[in-house]
Amino acid sequence: SSQPLTDTFGRHHTYLRISLTERCNLRCQYCMPAEGVQLQPKSNLLTTEEILYLARIFVEQGVRKIRLTGGEPTVRRDIVDIIAQIKSIPKLESVGITTNGLVLTRLLLPMQRAGLDAVNISLDTLRPKRFEEITRRKGWGRVIAGIDLAIQLGYKPKLNCVLMRNFNEDEICDFVEFTKDRAVDVRFIEYMPFTGNKWQTDRLISFKESLDIIQNRWPDFAALPNGPNDTSKAYGVPGYKGQVGFITSMTEHFCGSCNRLRLTADGNIKVCLFGNKEFSLRDAIRNNYSEDDLITLIGTAVSRKKKKHADNFIHDNITAEMHHNSRETFDIR
Ligand code: GTP
Ligand code: 5AD
Ligand code: SF4
Repeated sequence: SSQPLTDTFGRHHTYLRISLTERCNLRCQYCMPAEGVQLQPKSNLLTTEEILYLARIFVEQGVRKIRLTGGEPTVRRDIVDIIAQIKSIPKLESVGITTNGLVLTRLLLPMQRAGLDAVNISLDTLRPKRFEEITRRKGWGRVIAGIDLAIQLGYKPKLNCVLMRNFNEDEICDFVEFTKDRAVDVRFIEYMPFTGNKWQTDRLISFKESLDIIQNRWPDFAALPNGPNDTSKAYGVPGYKGQVGFITSMTEHFCGSCNRLRLTADGNIKVCLFGNKEFSLRDAIRNNYSEDDLITLIGTAVSRKKKKHADNFIHDNITAEMHHNSRETFDIR
């Protein structure tokens, strides 16, 4: 069709999320077993050249924002170069990264020089000991230093905080307080259960519940305007430098305004976080498909996109990039 990135529900897909690797330098309990995950042979992964070729095609077709994810995208050695090349694509408006923040003190300045526009950092706790429990690694101080550096360099970083009952629910107000003097956007993410954690719905702390807790302490905590495709509902304490958002994937899906497509580290296109891989664009490239053939393939994948994820919310199939991750199915211990 003439608009391959528009689906049957009229959603325009202007945002592409590219997973650069399955590897990670942390071992978050809810994401990976202690020993890490089975890695694919390197030849299965998209090369930097293939990533750039595909990114260009997507931008040609209407994508205006690209976000690099993982695994942990900064463990890819040529991350700075990838950013620079993606940034040079005409018509692209924004290139962002979602990172665990561990190496920002080393890499953020080079990434900024390469053109990085936005940075989202995962941080589930403000307590160093607890950080070690959840991630099985040291590094809380480095992440905090990375956040401070991001602010210093002029970013307004988004901090992704997955709320889990009996783990960090007692820090909700501390996170809000964290926005008092820092220009950050703390986003509470509803914990999404999937394979291995067996619908641990008891661990889910809903948007409504967190809002109650916060408004109990800050009665003037109020809603702020949102962008048309935001995953989060924005709030803030009046007078605080930063803001607070809620990503309500579980209790109030936002599929109607979804503008996202995904490219997995091994080159598959996915049209939904919770969906299946549609096609291997990597194989298509390696089998010498023409650019037009690739566009047709992408258009077919987009045309299959469901109205909302509940339709295919089969937890055995829920895949991974929700925690920076591109593996198919995995166990959460
Ligand atoms: P921006 O690009 O800055 O708007 O941030 P983002 O929220 O899109 O990206 P980020 O990588 O920071 O993702 C944070 C969380 O948002 C993820 O852990 C998911 O919980 C949620 N999220 C991101 N994309 C999707 C999506 O397509 N569907 C759903 N249901 N949740 C998503
Ligand atoms: N539910 C919700 N968010 C999750 N993330 C990882 N696993 C889950 C889950 N089960 C988060 C990461 C990161 C973001 C990209 O996804 O902590 O902040
Ligand atoms: Fe790494 Fe993110 Fe998984 Fe933690 S949640 S182990 S930071 S990929």
